[in-house]
Amino acid sequence: MQARNIARAHGRTRVRGLKPTPTPVIIPGLKPSMHNPRIMPTALHSGEPAAEVSWQDVLTSLEDSVIVVDCARGVSFVNQAAETLTGRSARSLLARDARDLFRANGWLLDMIDNSLGPDESTSRAENDFVKPRRGKVPVSALVSPLRDRRGQVSGSVLLLRDRTLRQALEDDLRRSDRLALLGKVAAALAHEIKNPLGGIKGAAQLIRAEVAHDASLVENTDIMIREVERVNQLLDQLLDLGRPAGLHLEPLNVHELLEHVLRLETPAATVAGVRIQRSFDPSLPPVAGDRDRLIQVFLNLVKNALQAMSAGGRLTVATHMETDFPLRTGHAAGTRFVRVDIRDEGTGIDEADLPHVFSPFFTRKRRGTGLGLAICDTTVKEHGGRLGVESRVGEGSVFKVSLPAQQG
Ligand SMILES: Nc1ncnc2c1ncn2[C@@H]1O[C@H](COP(=O)(O)OP(=O)(O)O)[C@@H](O)[C@H]1O
Ligand SMILES: [Mg+2]
Repeated sequence: MQARNIARAHGRTRVRGLKPTPTPVIIPGLKPSMHNPRIMPTALHSGEPAAEVSWQDVLTSLEDSVIVVDCARGVSFVNQAAETLTGRSARSLLARDARDLFRANGWLLDMIDNSLGPDESTSRAENDFVKPRRGKVPVSALVSPLRDRRGQVSGSVLLLRDRTLRQALEDDLRRSDRLALLGKVAAALAHEIKNPLGGIKGAAQLIRAEVAHDASLVENTDIMIREVERVNQLLDQLLDLGRPAGLHLEPLNVHELLEHVLRLETPAATVAGVRIQRSFDPSLPPVAGDRDRLIQVFLNLVKNALQAMSAGGRLTVATHMETDFPLRTGHAAGTRFVRVDIRDEGTGIDEADLPHVFSPFFTRKRRGTGLGLAICDTTVKEHGGRLGVESRVGEGSVFKVSLPAQQG
């Protein structure tokens, strides 16, 4: 009963009473000691026998994790991807009790139970795979009974796919849809408010001139003017957010942009007792970017980093070429990406806040607008790049900006 509730809670669909396949798939190599039968495929065109392939090689080469447990819940096979996912070597996994190994993943144990229970059911789920003391990885899981030649269930096959990248891409998509709409509404509103605000500020300045003899009235009018300016800044940010993509792309030296930003922020860093460390890759190619907009991105990120380190610390700005970005995003082959990491040793971001920091108006600061990162994210995307973040409370954060390098 409990297993069934959990299954529902995780939105799992269970294929009930799946009949044994007429020609059962036999997975050799179930036991570490088992012989390893080889198959002799035929080369597609020539009809010549191709190189020998073993099922074990096939399973080992898969990017998805394959784990086999026997009826007593003992692990009898793992492929390389499973070692990576669990963060443990095959040696430390094989022959161990799955109930012990996957103690932190009750949902997976339930799925194994279902496959070995009277129903012998196959089930699918999407859930977090928890690695003890090493965080969690979003996975999609398929657990099926493993049948021998006679159709008897001899164990359970677990297929786990790491969804980290997919989830990141889906999150990106959701983020940009939401932003596009919000940006339009916000910009229209900002535009309407800016004009009367200009009038209020002008009137306050006139009053200030009239009451120059009365210090307390001057103070009050100064507050009016200051607050109007603050709202005005917020409106400018809103307008930035809704500004249609219109980049003036030119080859830019990222290091020059970063130096410019660091120069602007040095006084603030000094006040906060923050040491700035550069780790620049001198062979970095130029990026194709809009100078003003990218300066704004780096400025927002550096400002946030300094604000998170009010008690001092180290701000590290590092650059390097990114090697796996095109593969990860499906960019045209040959597109190279430049990475800028802005790392702080500040407060860090709560795990629950992390998915929201790029949303407009999300702020944890008393006088924050919550627009800085939303603007950074939009701008980086308009450049065909990506903005990512990693953070731990009490340790600090790193914001990672990937930008396409200038082609040719
Ligand atoms: N480097 C950082 N360290 C800790 N928290 C951060 C950092 N950068 C951003 N944040 C969090 O994300 C929120 C949103 O940031 P941002 O969009 O720049 O808006 P704002 O700075 O106006 O609050 C911040 O309020 C803060 O909670
Ligand atoms: Mg900010």
